[in-house]
Amino acid sequence: MLRRAFASPVFVALLAGLIAAGIIGYTTFLYVSSQNAPAGFERTTSFKPQIDLGGDFALVDQTGEPVTNADFESKSLLIYFGFTYCPDICPTDLAIVGAAMDDLAAKAPDIAERVQPLFVTIDPERDTPDVVGDYASAFHPKIIGLTGTLEQVEDIAAKYRVFYSKRALNEDGSEYLMDHSTFTYLVGEDGRVTTMFPHNTGPEEISAVIAQELGG
Ligand code: NI
Repeated sequence: MLRRAFASPVFVALLAGLIAAGIIGYTTFLYVSSQNAPAGFERTTSFKPQIDLGGDFALVDQTGEPVTNADFESKSLLIYFGFTYCPDICPTDLAIVGAAMDDLAAKAPDIAERVQPLFVTIDPERDTPDVVGDYASAFHPKIIGLTGTLEQVEDIAAKYRVFYSKRALNEDGSEYLMDHSTFTYLVGEDGRVTTMFPHNTGPEEISAVIAQELGG
């Protein structure tokens, strides 16, 4: 009875129909997926922010002098927010920023000249100007380390929607880590974020996006 059912023309037609439906469905799924992917998805993991990010900031540079966005006029900025005690995430991403700057300088030196990489600490209590300056420039001579008052850092973090919070490692809180978001921001000359690069985006991808955005 069972064997006869398998061999019946009705069953064969049903099976063929199911296979055909599966193939059509899967092909449609792939097509829709590719249509929904952000532009350049195949090549990079970067994306355009869906909300307006960025804006004016006032901080303190590596020599202890006040610095604002106006000091970087006519530059695009590549900004990373972190802290110098970070055990692994910040060093990884700052090494990537350095490698991206080297890659850009090799492939498009004129464009590289127009990009200023910045490291902004979200731990200004420990990251004094000289500490943040030495730390940032160790990853690449072009990276400028910036700190500020708690209020100044809160202000720029809010404008970039940077999340950060202190996590105590001992009872009196004298030892702590900073949990923080880990995007690298490409900022146009108008001070608005144009592209966000998630943690671990490859340096050549960052370099390619910058060349594309600034080269047009
Ligand atoms: Ni970090």
